[in-house]
Amino acid sequence: MKVKVFAPINLALIKYWGKDNELLRIPSNSSFSITLTKIGSETEVEFVSGLKMDEVFINGKEANKKEGKRVTDHLERVRKLKGFDLKARVKSTNNFPKSAGLSSSASSMAALSLAASKAANLNLNEKDLSRLARIASGSACRSIPEGFVEWIKGRGDEDSYAKTIFPRNHWDLRVLVVILSEKKKEVGSSKGMKEARTSEIFEERLKRVNEKMSEIKKIVERKDFSRLGEITEEDCLNMHEVMRTQKPSLVYWLPETVKIMRKVIDWRKEGLEGYFSINTGQNIFVICEPENEDELVKRLEKFEEVIEVKRDRIGKGARII
Ligand code: PMV
Repeated sequence: MKVKVFAPINLALIKYWGKDNELLRIPSNSSFSITLTKIGSETEVEFVSGLKMDEVFINGKEANKKEGKRVTDHLERVRKLKGFDLKARVKSTNNFPKSAGLSSSASSMAALSLAASKAANLNLNEKDLSRLARIASGSACRSIPEGFVEWIKGRGDEDSYAKTIFPRNHWDLRVLVVILSEKKKEVGSSKGMKEARTSEIFEERLKRVNEKMSEIKKIVERKDFSRLGEITEEDCLNMHEVMRTQKPSLVYWLPETVKIMRKVIDWRKEGLEGYFSINTGQNIFVICEPENEDELVKRLEKFEEVIEVKRDRIGKGARII
């Protein structure tokens, strides 16, 4: 059976940085994210009898060795669950630049988990699908459920997974993805995160995170946008402080990243409310309410450093198409 799916990226408002278990990708803290709608990965998987090796195509080209291995390793997990040995044909495309801090591994690994498990005729429930996606790429577990999502840290493989806390129609928020450069980041999140503990503020961050997790759920429940924005920026800056103070130090921002961050802050003083968030890359996410979306896009597009502003909103998680 050939199965085609779409999985969106997700944006963590309370982020994770650091793992308790590398192999199982158990994070050092729980995180809270929003699942987007349009920006993501489309993936097709078919297990074919007689095929000697997995065939993997990404964005129309045969996958390089590293990417191919990540996909094959994940297919191997699915084959083990199913108890068969058929090799697969995989085609995956992203509708945004990959490896530039926009969570391409979250959407692509969530999509691969759903497509491969369905193609193998494994009918996993949402929790088990999220656990499967987590093993391929931690944040991918958050691209399975819809809406406002918590990735419960858990203690091990069984209880570390993501679930919806509020559905997508609870609150109409907009997310602008500001692409400043399609340059690939030099240090990926898996590698960078291994050194998180060398930061002198890592433990401090962990101490405050549980409090932030319970606060953000209350904020979303009462739909307090200003407080949501403040806690989002605070957590983003705190995570980047850990990155910058770990050894060796990691600085993902470019001068244009800082320029846009400052503009977003300045515009707020004029009453145009948007808040930024940044992952492992130079590009920026801006969250806003619907009435400010057009004006923010208009202003962002005026900068020559801005290649593109993609608009998205909160939506469904991974799904069959
Ligand atoms: O799970 P990964 O390897 O995609 O790492 C995600 C890391 C951040 O995007 C920086 C934080 C997060 O919680 O999404």
